[in-house]
Amino acid sequence: MPNIAIIGATGAVGDVFLRVAEERNFPIQNLKLLATARSAGKTLKFRNKDITVEEVSEASLSNSDIVFCSATSEASKKWGPIIREMGSVMIDDGSAFRMDRTVPLVVPEVNAIDLSWHEGIISIPNCTTTPLALALHSMRSISEPTKVIASTYQAVTGSGSAAALELREQIKALAQEKPIPQPIVYPQQIAMNVLPQVDDFDEGNFTKEELKMRNETRKILHLPDLPLTATCVRVPTMIGHAETIHVEFKDPVDLQEIFSTLSQQDGIWISDSPNEYPTPLTAEGNDLTHIGRLRRDETVSDNRGIVFWCVSDNLRKGAATNAIQIAEELIARNLLRGNNA
Ligand SMILES: NC(=O)c1ccc[n+]([C@@H]2O[C@H](COP(=O)([O-])OP(=O)(O)OC[C@H]3O[C@@H](n4cnc5c(N)ncnc54)[C@H](OP(=O)(O)O)[C@@H]3O)[C@@H](O)[C@H]2O)c1
Repeated sequence: MPNIAIIGATGAVGDVFLRVAEERNFPIQNLKLLATARSAGKTLKFRNKDITVEEVSEASLSNSDIVFCSATSEASKKWGPIIREMGSVMIDDGSAFRMDRTVPLVVPEVNAIDLSWHEGIISIPNCTTTPLALALHSMRSISEPTKVIASTYQAVTGSGSAAALELREQIKALAQEKPIPQPIVYPQQIAMNVLPQVDDFDEGNFTKEELKMRNETRKILHLPDLPLTATCVRVPTMIGHAETIHVEFKDPVDLQEIFSTLSQQDGIWISDSPNEYPTPLTAEGNDLTHIGRLRRDETVSDNRGIVFWCVSDNLRKGAATNAIQIAEELIARNLLRGNNA
């Protein structure tokens, strides 16, 4: 059984990671829980045992077969090469290595095959990319997508535990009719508001999140030129990212065939009734990509366009579960590099 370390064990994803690993009975010989000096000495429960959090260091990583990194880009960039050099594998939740040509970017249901060429670092996609890539992958068996437009409605836990606290504090202040505390995580108040900005602005007035959705989807699907425009919006929900997705296909498509293909895809649940649509609360706490409101996009000629609504738990399939599924695939495919694997 592999030795495992988690960098960022005290964060929003780290917390869910421990629960998902328990639920899935993920095999672990020895578990190291790592974070910064701020959290060193805290204890976290795993399989009914208290484990003390340590500050991440070379010594703390030295005997690991798999290191899950769920911290910051800086931490991934610092520890990734060291972990690779040590002969273990880093599965990284952050964006630091996602577009690196030597790093597979993997949603196991879509491109587990890419794990075969890993060199010690594997990335998981951004939490809005994962459900989009899964749905597009499934529908590709009917016709190739030739254009995608996505609008997102993203929960605050997507920005980590500090953002969840910020929304709670603002809601509490509103309920008590007190002044709203100055926002720290977001540029403006998030309670009773929506912000058309996720991450910083980048080229062409897109945000980094919007460019991640485009570039990562292309890499996962091996469609380097797929036209894809995203608008990413932060909304005052706690967990569960929602998206409206318009897809234009090469050929005319039959809606019933799209429905039945999506309903047969591992990891997808699709509603067959317009008023039984999934919401972020439907997705919270489970690993499914929930799809509803499937209909024709009438702006596209020749019956080549569809539009649907999609929701998934950003902390689970968007992060922790996807990372654990990758580790399970590495074990099953004998692709670990360490001695205890
Ligand atoms: N939240 C999501 O929905 C989501 C989805 C997909 C991917 N991700 C990615 O997952 C990562 C973690 O996100 P999160 O939402 O869990 O953030 P978070 O709640 O802010 O937690 C951050 C964690 O990283 C630790 N950390 C921060 N700087 C560190 C450093 N220099 N060295 C070691 N540990 C460090 C923190 O430790 P302390 O307790 O010591 O501060 C904490 O455990 C990010 O890269 C994010 O992009 C998040």
